[in-house]
Amino acid sequence: MKQFKGNIAILGSGNIGISLAKGLVKANYALPGQISLTRRNIANLSPFAEQGFGVSHDNAAVVAAADIVVLAVLPQQLNQLLDQIRPVVDLNKHLFISVASGVSCADIRNKLGAEAQVIRAMPNTAIAIGQSMTCIATDNASSEYMEEVTRMFETVGSVVKINEDLMTSATALCACGIAFFLRAIRAASQGGVEIGFHADEALKMAVQTAKGAADLLLQMQSHPEQEIDKVTSPKGCTIAGLNEMEHNGFSSSLIKGIKLSATKAGALYTKE
Ligand SMILES: NC(=O)c1ccc[n+]([C@@H]2O[C@H](COP(=O)([O-])OP(=O)(O)OC[C@H]3O[C@@H](n4cnc5c(N)ncnc54)[C@H](OP(=O)(O)O)[C@@H]3O)[C@@H](O)[C@H]2O)c1
Repeated sequence: MKQFKGNIAILGSGNIGISLAKGLVKANYALPGQISLTRRNIANLSPFAEQGFGVSHDNAAVVAAADIVVLAVLPQQLNQLLDQIRPVVDLNKHLFISVASGVSCADIRNKLGAEAQVIRAMPNTAIAIGQSMTCIATDNASSEYMEEVTRMFETVGSVVKINEDLMTSATALCACGIAFFLRAIRAASQGGVEIGFHADEALKMAVQTAKGAADLLLQMQSHPEQEIDKVTSPKGCTIAGLNEMEHNGFSSSLIKGIKLSATKAGALYTKE
């Protein structure tokens, strides 16, 4: 991995910010000394200070020394943060990457200046183990910056570039999607208990089966129905189970849930 030359500020070092920082260092994209982490309660960041990361509660000071600025606070915390850093923003130097759900590049430029280069990234919590599905989008940043941000987020999983107007949809499908698939695994394990397994065995079996199903698609580059056809023999038990689930709205409920999540995701950020 070609190492990044400048400094990175991660403003809001919670779940996503810390996972990204760890991924960047693990992949040798940057050294801990190139990364500064902020939050208001910095006592929680002391283990990272010991590892060589910069740690601060002073967002403006950290931004002044940075080239890439990652905005990783909650959407409702973002406006206050942008007000704090605006005086030190250097539009010729800084690239802003926002992971805040529901906040557009234009919303951020409204606060930081019309020329600010902004890229949005939508990771999910599997970023903690380097398995995030991250969607990135911009409406004004250069293709060089998009390549740099792709490289950054590839240290913590897969990256897909999308149009910014699909960012809310990406939130529902990928960020909320983690919970949807987890609930499906939980339900499968509960079914397993009903048919005779202890809860711990049933969960282990359901988890590995789900992982195998996902890996089949990733590694074989196949379509789900192609893989389903391989396990559904005529008059067999798989098709009987599958059709029973469909009669009860399995696919339909997933589709409806994703649509509702996308609607909600679009309304998370409160503009002042
Ligand atoms: N979790 C997900 O699945 C997910 C997926 C995609 C995108 N996102 C987005 O990613 C962002 C972060 O999510 P998260 O789950 O990492 O949230 P989180 O764990 O709550 O992290 C937010 C962090 O921001 C810090 N913070 C708040 N105000 C601050 C300020 N003024 N200056 C510096 N730090 C500040 C908080 O620490 P203090 O209270 O100590 O300041 C906290 O550690 C959100 O906008 C969310 O929409 C999340």
